[in-house]
Amino acid sequence: MASPLVRSRPVLSIGAALVLACSGCTRAPGAASADAGKVVVACGATEEWCAAMTSVFTSETGIPAEFVRLSSGEALARIKAGRADPEFDVWHGGPADGYAAAADDGLLQDYVSPNAATIPDRYKDRDGTWTGVYVGVLGFCDNTEVLAEKHVPAPTSWEGLLDPALRQNVGIAHPATSGTAYTALWTQVVLHRGADDEALAYMRRLHPNVLQYSKSGAAPAQQAARGEIGVGVVFSHDCVATREQGFTDLRVTFPAEGTGYEVGGVALVKGAHNVAGAKKYIDWALTPGAQEIGPTVHAYQAPTNPAAKRSDKTADLAALKLVDYDSTAAGARKLDLVRRFDAEIAKAPR
Ligand code: G6P
Repeated sequence: MASPLVRSRPVLSIGAALVLACSGCTRAPGAASADAGKVVVACGATEEWCAAMTSVFTSETGIPAEFVRLSSGEALARIKAGRADPEFDVWHGGPADGYAAAADDGLLQDYVSPNAATIPDRYKDRDGTWTGVYVGVLGFCDNTEVLAEKHVPAPTSWEGLLDPALRQNVGIAHPATSGTAYTALWTQVVLHRGADDEALAYMRRLHPNVLQYSKSGAAPAQQAARGEIGVGVVFSHDCVATREQGFTDLRVTFPAEGTGYEVGGVALVKGAHNVAGAKKYIDWALTPGAQEIGPTVHAYQAPTNPAAKRSDKTADLAALKLVDYDSTAAGARKLDLVRRFDAEIAKAPR
């Protein structure tokens, strides 16, 4: 399905954006010429935000854009599978450690956008492998009602999340598919001074408390909203967005030891069919205007462009105790750590 051009709609209509979105469609192999001009985006943000971004990009530039919403590990796998004939031009959204892992595998093309100059150094790769578009902070998404009913105190720390009273009452995604869950795993590596074994030992102790490992990182916020679990380990903005759907029992807290954060990335896929369009998309994604779309669709990450207006619902990064999160180092260890997590923890009986 080709996205129609929308040139004259100044204000985003979410309904229209969703109609324009093509979350199931991909570029058929060898279809480059028929698709000339279209930018195909592997999008790691929420479905609604992906739809809004591609729609506004098209309306502002006249360049058709389509997206497929993919969790971090899925995006990495799909981009790898398409190495010889890429189905995507751009990867947009999702934690930068996935991008670093992709770059290590030769799957991304360096591109230093002229607009990257305004993005602080800590939010971009030096060589232009990826550039940050947002920052999200991990937190606990408590269902206060469920915890009160079970007479379980809300955890205030990573250590507290191991409380046996929370058995089968914690939700977290699987780090092989989810960038959110990998951020949680790497946070443990940092909190354990770089010791992989100790980080995995923490996850092993957490295992009996985990009801199930979901595919996407935001899913535990929904599980908490439905009362299936007492606590979800998610990016805090996903809990805020779920609360806004009417689940007022949800509450965000941050673990006392310090918490991890993501730098959501944007990058050019190596061998992209539409390099010129992809570069325009990346340039656009770094602008204040593009980064101000998030809050219009309940996505409250902090923008990386200092000129972009922040929502008052965005977590105040300066007020939080954050671990020293190095996306490049996290990316380099990602494949090995998730393989070990899957073999040593996820499959173990509870
Ligand atoms: C949600 C969040 C994003 C995050 C993404 C990671 O969409 O709003 O901030 O980058 O999840 O997705 P994943 O499914 O890979 O954990």
